[in-house]
Amino acid sequence: MRTKFSFGILGFGNMGKALGTAAAAESSRKIQVYDTRASVLKPLRTHPKLKRQFRVCGSAAELFTHAEAVVLAVKPQDLRAVLRAESGCILERKPLLISIAAGIPLSLFTRELPGVRVVRAMPNLPAQVRNSVTFLCAGRHARKKDMECARRLFSAAGEVWVMRESLLDSVTAVSGSGPGYVFYFMHCMYEEAVRMGMTRAQARRTVLETFLGAGRLAKASGTQFDRLVAQVASPKGTTEAAFAEFRKGKLKDTIQRGIRRAAARAAELSRVYTKERA
Ligand SMILES: NC(=O)c1ccc[n+]([C@@H]2O[C@H](COP(=O)([O-])OP(=O)(O)OC[C@H]3O[C@@H](n4cnc5c(N)ncnc54)[C@H](OP(=O)(O)O)[C@@H]3O)[C@@H](O)[C@H]2O)c1
Repeated sequence: MRTKFSFGILGFGNMGKALGTAAAAESSRKIQVYDTRASVLKPLRTHPKLKRQFRVCGSAAELFTHAEAVVLAVKPQDLRAVLRAESGCILERKPLLISIAAGIPLSLFTRELPGVRVVRAMPNLPAQVRNSVTFLCAGRHARKKDMECARRLFSAAGEVWVMRESLLDSVTAVSGSGPGYVFYFMHCMYEEAVRMGMTRAQARRTVLETFLGAGRLAKASGTQFDRLVAQVASPKGTTEAAFAEFRKGKLKDTIQRGIRRAAARAAELSRVYTKERA
């Protein structure tokens, strides 16, 4: 990214910290940060390397005043209160707003902050290791250079794709929540490995390496996932025996219903925020 652009992050939790850390590694300017939780800001004030990379703002208003682009990384349910409380200074300074809040539609910004440039983004948690996938869509007033700015920021944390907003609920259900499904599957395998006699350390390492290896192979080979399944599951073999149980439990159907439910929840949240005017 190697940019002189002045980025700000509002909310330095899981995602804010991940994106801020990735951006700081590539930026020649300090990343400005504000969070209401003092404990997350303390290391940024005391740790020598972090002090060089970040500037802690004393308030959200200070952040919106000084940063040219602000990543809104607070929880969706906290976002509107922030926008309303800070609308005066946002409307005066007009920073680019980059929202990563799940389920908050661009229309909310158009209504609450007319004329403000907004990019909506859906990254995922592997941003913490700079291996995320982020989908971007432009708000009504966002210009080409605003999308470029957002692209540069999220590129520091992984891959970036542009997407129309109508698909963002599906993206949220697949890639936003996706790491959670993978961790759950990992945990199931880990628990069973321990139950079968492995030490916790062996089980953790085995599961980790299995997922890493499988992910790397899938990426490197470019082979369709179902064909990779067939490469492991030979007829009458051990994997096939496991699949017989998975089929009995309708695992595929359960997973796919879960993903659809996540997408429906994202749409539900969007509707709530679109309709709510109070
Ligand atoms: N986690 C994911 O995998 C993921 C993936 C894609 C998108 N997202 C989106 O990313 C956003 C952040 O998620 P997260 O998991 O990083 O949440 P998080 O860990 O809870 O971080 C949010 C941080 O913002 C702070 N905060 C709350 N109100 C604030 C305010 N008015 N001003 C400044 N800071 C404030 C919170 O403090 P308190 O804890 O004290 O409230 C917390 O430290 C959400 O909108 C979510 O939808 C998350």
